[in-house]
Amino acid sequence: MQLVTIGQALQRSCREIDHTDMRILLQHVLNVDHAFLLTHPDQVLTSKQEEIFDQLVARRVNGEPVAYLTGERDFYDLTFKVTPAVLIPRPETELLVEFTLERIPANHACRVLDLGTGSGAIAITIARHRPQVSVVAVDLSADAVSIARMNARNLEVNNISIVTSDWFGELLGEKFDLIVSNPPYVADGDSHLKQGDLRFEPRMALAADADGMACIKKIISAATEYLVPDGWLLLEHGYDQAAACRQLLEEAGYRNTFSRPDLAGIMRVSGGVI
Ligand SMILES: C[S@@+](CC[C@H](N)C(=O)[O-])C[C@H]1O[C@@H](n2cnc3c(N)ncnc32)[C@H](O)[C@@H]1O
Repeated sequence: MQLVTIGQALQRSCREIDHTDMRILLQHVLNVDHAFLLTHPDQVLTSKQEEIFDQLVARRVNGEPVAYLTGERDFYDLTFKVTPAVLIPRPETELLVEFTLERIPANHACRVLDLGTGSGAIAITIARHRPQVSVVAVDLSADAVSIARMNARNLEVNNISIVTSDWFGELLGEKFDLIVSNPPYVADGDSHLKQGDLRFEPRMALAADADGMACIKKIISAATEYLVPDGWLLLEHGYDQAAACRQLLEEAGYRNTFSRPDLAGIMRVSGGVI
């Protein structure tokens, strides 16, 4: 049998997956970091490692997202466990976390709610960076709640409570200083749902009625009851939904409404104060 080295495994020509994906899969199989791969090109893979690597490459060629194959994804400065029960946290969502942290001075005790927490990426990152803040995170998916709780445990975050709830359903009478959400906002019939990584992610994490605006609309209207006076609502939304979002916010009585672009210049987060 021919032995395969790290260098050879990485150089295998594979037109369908890119080099970075290949590298991340190999790091995962060998349980090593990027620097190790670079400094040990002649290390030989065991036959078991080669078999697992080949299987993962074949699944990637078939379209499965790398994060589901490795079971994790970096977000902000943390690493989150992910399964096909949760959305894979996106780099653009880090913007929502940044805007939220900007509004919570260090050492300022307050309450923050994350609606549709998925893996817990937003809520847990905020809780880690503001240990004095009490964070509540909800999701309608019981599987997502289990993953988010596991991430909170693994990342040793204790100032968080993660609850199964249909948006505000289990939060009657509660008040928050800040409500954040990255809700489903892709229009139900959008062809992107049938392409790339999105094919493998939970539909309920992605798609919404009313051209993708149904959840955003519901959250904007209901959040007024759950915010303290001068409390902020911050929402991530689709590239073409900023104006509609601001209009809904203004109609619901929010002040100082704004939209901000991501690094690619796409309007990504909107919000207002009540
Ligand atoms: C776009 S994903 C965001 C996940 C995570 N916050 C992130 O940014 O990576 C939307 C989340 O909303 C949840 N969701 C959908 N409908 C919901 C509802 N009615 N009540 C609560 N959560 C809901 C989905 O299960 C999913 O986890």
